Amino acid sequence: MRRLLSTLTLAVAVVLAGAAVAAEEPAEAEAPILIRFSHVVAEETPKGQGALLFRRLVEERLAGKVEVRVHPNSSLYGDAKEMEALLLGEVEMLAPSLSKLYRYSPALQLFDLPFLFDNMAALDRFQNSPDGRELLRSVEPRGLLGLAFWHNGMKQLTANKPLRQPADAAGLRFRIQSSAVLEAQFETLGAKAVKLPFSEVLHALKRGYVDGQENTWSNMWTQRFFEAQKYVTETNHGVIDYIVVTNARFWNGLPEGIRTALEAILDEVTAEVNRQADAINEAARQSMLAGGKIQLVALDKPQRAAWREAMRPVWRRFEGEIGTERIAEALAANRR
Ligand code: LMR
Repeated sequence: MRRLLSTLTLAVAVVLAGAAVAAEEPAEAEAPILIRFSHVVAEETPKGQGALLFRRLVEERLAGKVEVRVHPNSSLYGDAKEMEALLLGEVEMLAPSLSKLYRYSPALQLFDLPFLFDNMAALDRFQNSPDGRELLRSVEPRGLLGLAFWHNGMKQLTANKPLRQPADAAGLRFRIQSSAVLEAQFETLGAKAVKLPFSEVLHALKRGYVDGQENTWSNMWTQRFFEAQKYVTETNHGVIDYIVVTNARFWNGLPEGIRTALEAILDEVTAEVNRQADAINEAARQSMLAGGKIQLVALDKPQRAAWREAMRPVWRRFEGEIGTERIAEALAANRR
């Protein structure tokens, strides 16, 4: 009996001691939810700035609950792998160019049609219309969630010879994003389109693997394309714009309060990115031209009309996949 009592006493003592230790130890802190935001451009571009602002606001408002890590300049994943990484849960957020998303939603090819939007304000109006919002949701059947449209800017053409008339582009090789519309756009000019990831463009231009390319001022400036190209023709013939995209399973699995807070932050960041994009591109334009390494080819009205006419057949080729009504809606945004 005495032995039983002392065994019980010992057991109680062990339990109490354990409880005392547990009370002293702070509960193990839950690790913050990690959002890896990967992208392919420099931090000084509209998208680069947007990713940094998103990280800063999350740090300020959701400290300890959510951590955002930004991986710019294809440092984690480049064009070829980033969508796969998102679907496999290796990153949580991307902002790919719309041109690279047509495999996930053919209707997004709309945004690549040459000379569709007169300027970024028209693009913005269209994206905020019911048709635009529908396109943002069009990636959902593929397990993705389109969270916002972010702007970059209008595209210009560069080459090592001045491109004044569409015929000047014939026979040249142009780097393009992975897009069937952009391929058709250069083929219509009698040029050759070469699909290359963004991170390889400067090298390809320097080695002469391609003769020219199309991009925004901010991308051309931050990637130093002016080191490999002598002329930039201010065509404003198309747009580079993004969908901020996440994995639907990840996003819908977030605690509701966190998800709502992230969406509110993203709304704020989107407004700021889209407000600043034109100014960032204009500053890049001025820096690039002031550097003196690349010469501006300005087009007069008839010359720009000639480029528009030359590229126009592309519309007819893709209107079946895109939808003629959708094209008409987008065009109407120029007049609103
Ligand atoms: C490109 O590949 O030229 C651009 O779309 C890169 C980007 O994300 O702006």
